[in-house]
Amino acid sequence: MKNTDRINPAIAAIPQTKRDAINAAIQRKKNLPNLAAGNPVMPMPKTITDRTMAFLSAGFVRYTDYYGFPELRRRLSEVLQSQWGIAANPESELLITSGIQEGLYVVMRTILQPGDEVLIPSPHYGTYFQNTVACGAVPIVVPLDEAEGFQPDIDRLARAITPRTRAIVFCNPSNPLGVVWPRAAIERIADLARRHDLIVLVDEIYRDFVFEAPPPSIAGLEDMRIRTFTFGGFSKTYMMMGLRIGFVAGPPALMPTVKKLHYCLTLCPSVIAQVAAQAALDCPVDEVRPVITEFLDKLQLLYRGISSLPGVRCVPPGGSFYIFPNFRAYSSDSMALALRLIEDADVITLPGSEFGELGEGFLRLSVCAPKADVEEGLKRLQVFFQRCARNE
Ligand SMILES: Cc1ncc(COP(=O)(O)O)c(C=O)c1O
Repeated sequence: MKNTDRINPAIAAIPQTKRDAINAAIQRKKNLPNLAAGNPVMPMPKTITDRTMAFLSAGFVRYTDYYGFPELRRRLSEVLQSQWGIAANPESELLITSGIQEGLYVVMRTILQPGDEVLIPSPHYGTYFQNTVACGAVPIVVPLDEAEGFQPDIDRLARAITPRTRAIVFCNPSNPLGVVWPRAAIERIADLARRHDLIVLVDEIYRDFVFEAPPPSIAGLEDMRIRTFTFGGFSKTYMMMGLRIGFVAGPPALMPTVKKLHYCLTLCPSVIAQVAAQAALDCPVDEVRPVITEFLDKLQLLYRGISSLPGVRCVPPGGSFYIFPNFRAYSSDSMALALRLIEDADVITLPGSEFGELGEGFLRLSVCAPKADVEEGLKRLQVFFQRCARNE
């Protein structure tokens, strides 16, 4: 038997991220404005740094409660109740994970069997598709139409449902689309899930990055807690991406099994990250709010600049770090366009195809870089596309 014959075909089938090709292309260039990253360059708030450093300096870094500090779960449960409208028992319905990324994996692995189908409104965050494939399940991408502001079309979703459909997974606000689905859309998805007995996986990592009030959490709607997993994070709100800490709130009947898999995978979340997460919940609003405001200002600036480019369409963002403009007037191959932008315009962007085939012809642009870099990146895109438009 060849060594490669031993690889599980479901794992081999996980699509390769396109970020590798972009990263390879930028090796040859220095200090380009980065409009591709989802990894902000800001430090975490001082309250969190101080508490985490004080903890570390004592030198004790033992294993913790497998499912996260009980006190962290208790505090989170209060926050979920008061701010998200979700009643989650800290003992039986909350799990602290090594980022949402782990949470998505342990939940999808727990609820999906080979051949099950998962509805993924698309363009989508790549991990939803990758985890579905890793489980031997079948991703059913359901188009979100740019002309409809990337809002979900419930009839289109309903038509994609078969007897094998088990779940729907989406994020709100959206990475990569930058749009927010309002209460009416969330209510219609809840209704669909109830009618067709679907599990809902909702990723709310960008919940704090919104121009208006955050949309309601679907788990807070009537009868939805028993069929909803809500994923939340610390990575973005508190600039704690590299600490790897997040949480999942899920149905009490399913969480004990999710926890067994989590135990196999990580034993417990990093103790350092849990201390930081607990400090994050104590962090004064004025240490967090200005950074969020700065992100939203940069997002407006980028949106205005990009939507005024000749031939480029862009759905206005409602939140997140991203916009998802349509560059089909210039190229229907978004990877080729992103590579050309690195070579000829000295700016890094991410091809829309990273977010599924339905993202082809788009680029995802982000505002994780400092404001000066976002401005410079935008200027370079303006010069490049104006030149292209003149030469056509
Ligand atoms: C939509 C979405 N979900 C999850 C993650 C990963 O979250 P975490 O750092 O909590 O694993 C990201 C990171 O970019 C993301 O954009």
